[in-house]
Amino acid sequence: MMSIHWLWTALALAAVWFFLQDLFLMKKRKRFPPGPKGLPIIGNLHLLGKNPHQDLAKLAKKHGPLMYMRFGYVPAIIVSSPEAAEKFLKTYDQVFASRPYHESSWYVSYEQRNLSFAQYGPYWRNMRKLCILQLLSSHKINSFLPMRREEVGTLVKSLKQAASDGAAVDLSAAISSLGANMSCLMIFGKKYMDKDFDDRGFRDVIGEALRLGATPNLGDYFPLLGVLDLQGLTRRFKDLAKVFDNFFEKIIDEHLQSQEHKQTKDVVDIMMGIMQSGEAEFEFDRRHVKAVLLDLLVASMDTSVTAVEWAISELLRRPEAMRKLQKELEDKVGLERTVEESDVEGLEYLDMVIKETMRLHPVAPLLLPHESMEDCTVDDFHIQKKSRIIINVYAIGHDPNVWPDPETFIPERFKDSNIDLRGQDFQLIPFGSGRRGCPGLQLGILLVRFVLAQLVHCFNWEPADNIKSTDLDMSETFGLVLSRAKHLKVVPTYRLQE
Ligand code: HEM
Repeated sequence: MMSIHWLWTALALAAVWFFLQDLFLMKKRKRFPPGPKGLPIIGNLHLLGKNPHQDLAKLAKKHGPLMYMRFGYVPAIIVSSPEAAEKFLKTYDQVFASRPYHESSWYVSYEQRNLSFAQYGPYWRNMRKLCILQLLSSHKINSFLPMRREEVGTLVKSLKQAASDGAAVDLSAAISSLGANMSCLMIFGKKYMDKDFDDRGFRDVIGEALRLGATPNLGDYFPLLGVLDLQGLTRRFKDLAKVFDNFFEKIIDEHLQSQEHKQTKDVVDIMMGIMQSGEAEFEFDRRHVKAVLLDLLVASMDTSVTAVEWAISELLRRPEAMRKLQKELEDKVGLERTVEESDVEGLEYLDMVIKETMRLHPVAPLLLPHESMEDCTVDDFHIQKKSRIIINVYAIGHDPNVWPDPETFIPERFKDSNIDLRGQDFQLIPFGSGRRGCPGLQLGILLVRFVLAQLVHCFNWEPADNIKSTDLDMSETFGLVLSRAKHLKVVPTYRLQE
C-alpha cells in the first residue's frame, strides 16, 4: 500500500518536472535531432523490445542517423552512421567520453570504480593507464601464451575424442568454458570451478551479473523510482555484490598468504603489488582492485569466444569460405601439426573472416553507453549535457548504404580494402574508438584469431541433428554481449594427420 502511494507521488513529481522542463528549458529554442514522438513520463522506453539494437536500427531508418529519444528522465542520442559515429568518437570525443549512472555497476562495482563504467576524470584516466601498461601490454599478453596454448590444446583434445566417437558437441558451451578458464588463469592465476564460488556456481553467478547488467533498469532512467526498486533489481544487485565481494576477498587473501615465487604474475598479484607499494598516484585500495578484477573478468570472458562462435556459425553456412580458410591454414601450417599463435599473424583470409563476422555480429552492438559532459552542437543539432549517447554499430554494419548486400556473409568484400577494425574506420568499429575504445583490443583480436584458426584447422564441422547448414538458426540474444540465442551444436571430424 505504502509503495503504491510512493509510486503515484513519484510519477506525479516526474510529470510536473517534465512539464516544467518542456515549458522553460532549451528544448523550445534549440534544434534537437529528429526522433520518434515520446509518451509522457516514459518517453520512448516502450519502443525498446528484447533486441534494442534491432529496434533502434529500424527507427533510425525512419528518423535518420542522428536520432533524439528520451528514456524516462534521460535524453538519448542514437548514432547510426559512420559519419555521425566519427563526430562523437573522434571530433568531439572529449565531450562524450564519460559514462552515465549505471545502477548495476554502482552496486556491484563499488560505486562505478571499475574501468568500463567509471566517469571520465582523473581516476578513470589513471586506472586505464595502469591497466594498459601493467595488465594488457604486449609483454604481459605474451607471458600468458603457454597458458593459452595449453587451454586451447585441452579443448582440441576433448573435441578430438568426440570426433572419434562420432558424437555431437555443444560448441557454444565448450568455447564458453574455454573463455572462462583463460580469463580466470590470466586474472586469478587459477581456474575457478563452480564449487569454489557460491551455492549457485561460478558460471551462473557471472551469467546473472551479465544478464542483470543488460536488463533495462527503471532506476537508470528514473532516479526517483530507483529508490522504490519496483523491478526488484536493486536487491539482486546488492545480493550479487555480496557474493562477488566475498569471492574477491578470498582470492586476495589467498594471494597475500601465498609466499611462493611465481614465474608469471597474474592480475591480482600485479594489482596488489601496486596497492601495497603505495606508488599509485591516485586513491587505490581494495575496492578499486576488486572493481577492476570484476571488470576484466566480465570484459574478457565471453567477448572473444562469442566472436569465434559467430564466425564458425557463418562459416558453416558458407562451406566454400570454410574451405578457403582451411586452405590458407594448410598452406601456412601444414596438416601435420596444430596452429601456434605465431602462425596467425598475416593470414589474410582469416582476418577477412573476422572482420566480416564482427560487421554482421558485433560483440557489443551498442558499444557501452557514453555520456556528454557538456552541451555540444553536432551537425547543427543541440546535444544536452548528460545525454546518453548510444552508438549503434549493429545498424552501421547492416546498412545497405554502407555495405552492399549487408545481410550476406562475404569475407571477400574486404579483399584489397584498407578497412580495419581497430577504430580508425568508422564503418567497422566493433571495439569502439577514441578515448573509451576497448583497451583489450590486442588481446581480443589475438584470441579470436588463435581459437578460430585452431578449430577450423583441426576439424571439419557439420551441424548436429541433420540440420542443413543453410537452415542453421542465427537468431540473437541481446545482453552485455550479443550471443547466439540457440547453442551451436555440431559434429566435428578431425582432419589433421597426426
Ligand atoms: C573480441 C573481443 C572484444 C571486443 C569486441 C570488445 C569490445 C569492446 C567495446 C565495444 C567496448 C566499449 C567501447 C566504447 O564504449 O566506446 C569495450 C570496452 C572495454 N573493454 Fe573490450 N572488447 C573485447 C575484449 C576485451 C578484453 C579481452 C578485455 C580485457 C581483458 C577488454 C576490456 C575492456 C575494458 C576494460 C573496457 C572499458 C574501457 C573504458 O571504458 O575505458 N575487452 N570493449
